[in-house]
Amino acid sequence: MDLTQTAETEGKHMDHTRVPMVEALVDFRRRGDVAYGPPGHRKGRGVDPRLLEVLGKGLFAADVLSLNGLDDRRQSNGILEQAQDLMADAVHAEHAFFSTCGSSLSVKSAMMSVAGPGEELLVSRNAHKSVVSALIIAGIRPVWVHPHADEELHLVHPPEPDDVRRALADHPRAKGMLLITPTDWGTCADIAGVAAVCHDAGVPLIVDEAWGAHLPFHEDLPTWGMDAGADVVVTSVHKMGAAIEQSSVFHLQGDLVDPSVLKAREDLLGTTSSSSLVYLTLDGWRRQMMEQGHELLSAAMSRADRIRRAVEKLEGLSVMGREVVRPQGAFDLDPLVLTIDVRGLGITGYSATEWLRDTCHVDLSAADTCRISARITQGDDDRTEDVLVAALDQLVARSDEIDRAPEVAFPRPGALELETVMRPRDAFFGPAEQVPTEQAVGRIVAEMISPYPPGVPVLVPGERITAEVVEYLRTGKAAGMLIPDSADPEFSTLRVVA
Ligand SMILES: Cc1ncc(COP(=O)(O)O)c(C=O)c1O
Repeated sequence: MDLTQTAETEGKHMDHTRVPMVEALVDFRRRGDVAYGPPGHRKGRGVDPRLLEVLGKGLFAADVLSLNGLDDRRQSNGILEQAQDLMADAVHAEHAFFSTCGSSLSVKSAMMSVAGPGEELLVSRNAHKSVVSALIIAGIRPVWVHPHADEELHLVHPPEPDDVRRALADHPRAKGMLLITPTDWGTCADIAGVAAVCHDAGVPLIVDEAWGAHLPFHEDLPTWGMDAGADVVVTSVHKMGAAIEQSSVFHLQGDLVDPSVLKAREDLLGTTSSSSLVYLTLDGWRRQMMEQGHELLSAAMSRADRIRRAVEKLEGLSVMGREVVRPQGAFDLDPLVLTIDVRGLGITGYSATEWLRDTCHVDLSAADTCRISARITQGDDDRTEDVLVAALDQLVARSDEIDRAPEVAFPRPGALELETVMRPRDAFFGPAEQVPTEQAVGRIVAEMISPYPPGVPVLVPGERITAEVVEYLRTGKAAGMLIPDSADPEFSTLRVVA
């Protein structure tokens, strides 16, 4: 793939009824090619019939290599390029690149195309752990831009343009900025404002828009990163779109990031065996969105609105609405995300989620101490709408069956803004030791500690551990918080710099 030759799509009328990847699969089947390379399952013929019975033949029949499969050895039909150009055109980008390891990989490629070892990058501190992984792998020095704490809701809202302006003034050598929007709770940042600040300083803005793949396709949704002037935007189509897990796209515009540099960084991290299944579903989703996206998203927004109104009538539950859109709050809110505070029932989001799964077979998107969240997509229908409302109704009616969780010691606003003492890479790879958690206070953490979901690290390697943060994590864990990345699953010890 030569990204430098990717067509500039602006001004062209592209034919969005075409699906180059999907058409190539149909052609491959029509020709009846017999392949002797990977995948070894040979269109499913080699698969254990018991597995086929569960997964279906279609899955394996569509799992065909791009190289010497959907396209020839020289990729002379440019099938992938065509599909990517169509995606770029659909979402108003100059270039779009498909990626098969989720935004976790795309965001690393994007960051490493802007900053390298020892260089500074402004990063919003509510970053997903994949962003922190990129800092560690690349040896980038983070300049944290802190989000705004909402004391009442116990969550944070994205940083504002003035925060970024101040950080850039303090760190004039920073290579760019990484912003996360929408957040896990659907709150959105002022991308255009932050992009303008970055561009005034001559540096690019990367937007981790993992939760925002649907945004380009409806004007009533929050503004999409490419439309707001960001330079690189990363999405996970599997999250809010209708492609399979791990399907991610990164998009590029402007001249602050060189497409060939982005390509080289992606090449460094990516697989040499990209899944065609991922590419095929991205291609098909783009056609669907171009043909029916507006209608599908209008229907999803009406559905979300109906659910929101029904849940608001349930005593003890409170749905986050546009009251959070205010200065020092959110700039916008994705109406498809239903963030429901359960504290009025005297229970935690963790126990509410577990009760809903066990009792109603309803699996939610995320939960924390205070809330649960459900996301509505184009795939929801009248049945899933009714099931959700009925389950929440049951949750309220039977909440006294649910164990009361122990109190969580929430940190004071600002208490999560820890001192960065070392570069994340040096703390992570340097000599380290495991010490009892209470003795870790004052030491420099050498591991990531990310309550999941949402997977935003409370502790990033290189930060100084405080008693308040340890107490928050300890009491949070007792209340049901999961910390899958800590070296000690019990959290009774912490990995610190030796
Ligand atoms: C803000 C954010 N960025 C990146 C990612 C990683 O995305 P993926 O799971 O597609 O690798 C996530 C995952 O939840 C996320 O919430």
